[in-house]
Amino acid sequence: MSASAQRCVFVTAAGGPEVLQLRQAPVPAPGPGQLRIRIAAAGVNRRDCNQRQRGPTQAHSNVPGLEVAGVVDAIGENVQAFAAGQRVCALVDGGGYGEYVLAEEALVLPWPEGMDAAGAASQPEAAFTAWYNFFVLAALQPGEAVLIHGGTSGVGVFAIQLLAAMGHPVFVTCGSDAKCDAALALGASAAVNYRRERFDGAMAQRLGRAIDVVLDMSAGVHTEASLDALAWRGRIVHLSPGAGAQLQVPLAMVLRKEARITGSLMRPLPLPDKARVAEALRTRVWPLLGTSIRPQVAATFALDAAAQAHRAMEQADHVGKLVLRVAG
Ligand SMILES: NC(=O)c1ccc[n+]([C@@H]2O[C@H](COP(=O)([O-])OP(=O)(O)OC[C@H]3O[C@@H](n4cnc5c(N)ncnc54)[C@H](OP(=O)(O)O)[C@@H]3O)[C@@H](O)[C@H]2O)c1
Repeated sequence: MSASAQRCVFVTAAGGPEVLQLRQAPVPAPGPGQLRIRIAAAGVNRRDCNQRQRGPTQAHSNVPGLEVAGVVDAIGENVQAFAAGQRVCALVDGGGYGEYVLAEEALVLPWPEGMDAAGAASQPEAAFTAWYNFFVLAALQPGEAVLIHGGTSGVGVFAIQLLAAMGHPVFVTCGSDAKCDAALALGASAAVNYRRERFDGAMAQRLGRAIDVVLDMSAGVHTEASLDALAWRGRIVHLSPGAGAQLQVPLAMVLRKEARITGSLMRPLPLPDKARVAEALRTRVWPLLGTSIRPQVAATFALDAAAQAHRAMEQADHVGKLVLRVAG
């Protein structure tokens, strides 16, 4: 029988990691089309730190956590594809830093074969983000070359493996030589330490090809150099808005290359769009998990050490994902 109360980590004020506090909360009941998942592990994402820095809000759950792996514990009306007792992972709208969370059925995927809880919990956010931005927004075509700024971020380590497995030349920038080595070991064709060199047109020429799609989580720091490295009709996709970052781009280059500069936020994306991504992941990406794409879990933390996980995230020395261990 399920418990009626659970332990959750709440954002209790705007501030540092110490504002994350473990508290009791009710176990929610699934609505139509929803599953309740008993959480085994939850991924920690940079955006959880942003949520903590902004502080509590009425707009959505004050329990961070956008991805989980666990066991289906209860199902709401009209749930078709899952039953209680199945092992799953899911993209969730907050609430992952707890023992139970509700997930939309459309955003639930099978627990990847052969992965442990931390590995399974570390897949959804990176997978949804990588697929949506490369294949939907940027319409990446077979054989096109990509550049990822932030190669060893959670999104980066997933995207390197996915795109290399699909035959794309994958170039990355990282903030240290050790991170560059890690990116190369994951299948990147070349890795540049951006603290020493810019990835601009000259760099692209040295590496033998212009870049078709850039994925950039640096809040605009690299945009001008990326534009210089871009092929005709290339696309630049931004993931991080920074703290009110403004973009300044040489317009002549945008026009000459017919470049497109865009960006997205996964959390506010409408459910039908996310559901389409989930469907693509189910058929195109999940079969690669555990073989071509291996989980890159840098460290795990107990649920009551979520503050420590946020300190590690903000120190940014890790390669890959940080994960909270919740149960079993
Ligand atoms: N728009 C979306 O829907 C979406 C979804 C997922 C993630 N993101 C964004 O993608 C980035 C990575 O997220 P994550 O959860 O994968 O975090 P993460 O694993 O900790 O990745 C962060 C790493 O990316 C690099 N980085 C580059 N620019 C950065 C910046 N402006 N701020 C912080 N780190 C930066 C850092 O490595 P170096 O030492 O190499 O600089 C850092 O270690 C974050 O900016 C996050 O907000 C956006």
